[in-house]
Amino acid sequence: MSSTVQTDFFTVIRERHSVRYFDPSHTLGEQEIKELLELAGSAPSSWNLQHWKFVAFTDPAAKEKLRPVANGQRQVVDASVTVAILGDLEANRNAEAVFRPVVQAGLDDAYAGYSSYRAMIEQIEAAYANASPTYRRDEAIRNASLAAMQLMLAAKAKGLDSGPMVGFDADAFVKAFNVPPRYIPVLLVAIGKAVKPARPTTRFPAEQTVVWNGF
Ligand SMILES: Cc1cc2nc3c(=O)[nH]c(=O)nc-3n(C[C@H](O)[C@H](O)[C@H](O)COP(=O)(O)O)c2cc1C
Repeated sequence: MSSTVQTDFFTVIRERHSVRYFDPSHTLGEQEIKELLELAGSAPSSWNLQHWKFVAFTDPAAKEKLRPVANGQRQVVDASVTVAILGDLEANRNAEAVFRPVVQAGLDDAYAGYSSYRAMIEQIEAAYANASPTYRRDEAIRNASLAAMQLMLAAKAKGLDSGPMVGFDADAFVKAFNVPPRYIPVLLVAIGKAVKPARPTTRFPAEQTVVWNGF
């Protein structure tokens, strides 16, 4: 639990933990939430396609609707905002919008490694057209997850707390909130002011997680 703004990056990382009890009276303004989501969206993504969409729950009625979908977890209603991070199964459709302004600005290096803007777009389209059945889903989940992680760290750096949740019914979420088939729910992240610290957790030391130069 923290109420101070953390600016030291390593402190932010070390002090972020999964909070499950939030102050229901604490609110965040639309601008503050947008700022957090812009920071989240500065995450890297394959070809910079930005495979995420954020559904921000601030309205009490919408949060109440979310709660049974999230296995009754009360943090989704008590948090100042609960963000559903969706992954984009058709992120190739973002390519033109991402790269056209770059090309128009004459920044040729923006598609470094490709002979031309067109070659890059074609490769993206080919990747999506010829992909294995799991490719779109893998891409959606891995890229959206990076944004989710940044969201939690950004929140911590702003003196807020967060709690990620995969304990929700993705199909029910899609139905309840009219999610178009293009997107899949990846994670919920509750953000607000903790009223109870996160449970203490430990991590494996590097000796147990690192394999040098291959198995
Ligand atoms: C993908 C993912 C899903 C999670 N789902 C839930 C959840 O549904 N409910 C919950 O209370 N915590 C959930 N957590 C939090 C984890 O339990 C927590 O990150 C882990 O125990 C480590 O604790 P810490 O984040 O406080 O360091 C989830 C975490 C991740 C990364």
